[in-house]
Amino acid sequence: MRPKNPSSNDKTPAAEGLLFPLPERVPEDIKLPRLRHPVWTEHKANLIARYLYYFVLITKHGTYIDGFAGPQRPENPEMWSAKLVLESEPRRLRHFYLFDKSENQIRRLNALRHSQPKVRGRTIQISKGDFNSKVRELLRSGQIKQTEAAFCLLDQITFQCHWETVVLLASYKTPKRPKIELFYFLAAGWMPRSISAVKQRQT
Ligand SMILES: C[S@@+](CC[C@H](N)C(=O)[O-])C[C@H]1O[C@@H](n2cnc3c(N)ncnc32)[C@H](O)[C@@H]1O
Repeated sequence: MRPKNPSSNDKTPAAEGLLFPLPERVPEDIKLPRLRHPVWTEHKANLIARYLYYFVLITKHGTYIDGFAGPQRPENPEMWSAKLVLESEPRRLRHFYLFDKSENQIRRLNALRHSQPKVRGRTIQISKGDFNSKVRELLRSGQIKQTEAAFCLLDQITFQCHWETVVLLASYKTPKRPKIELFYFLAAGWMPRSISAVKQRQT
């Protein structure tokens, strides 16, 4: 609020139209240096790799599905979940299904595949396109056995992963089998901005 009457001699907050006294000078914003890596991106990749490390210790095998697999920070491949999981020891995950809709990201995924040592029995499939439709084809093909332990990373940017896709993955296994484990990332920090950018309003 601006002072009501700046020329008045009464300098009390009320006379100046203020609720409470303000300091003479508002300190400037404190500037912190930029972090070397975005903390969350780095922790996210490590969390997933660590989780899968324990996962294979129990299952001794497994399938890894990554719906949005291209690197978020191509310049920092050590923060790339698919890379960390592929390189995680012991290399017990047998089948990898990596999806991305971007041509450039597919190129990076192919380069990652080529950089990997041969592991007996291990397959790495890379598919270009919208994960929501591509995963439907994968599940319909029956390539993922009911007996296969499976994990699926849904590391979308905002709302790219449709809820029907989550339902489809969650209901793929018969009730007697352990479900495909889902890691669904919701960009909670960006939610207000993301929602306000949505043009299509459904009731
Ligand atoms: C947040 S990044 C993934 C980050 C990655 N998991 C990592 O560890 O660095 C999201 C990726 O999803 C891809 N993408 C966006 N929409 C998609 C869609 N509908 N289907 C498949 N990939 C998509 C983008 O090209 C991008 O590579």
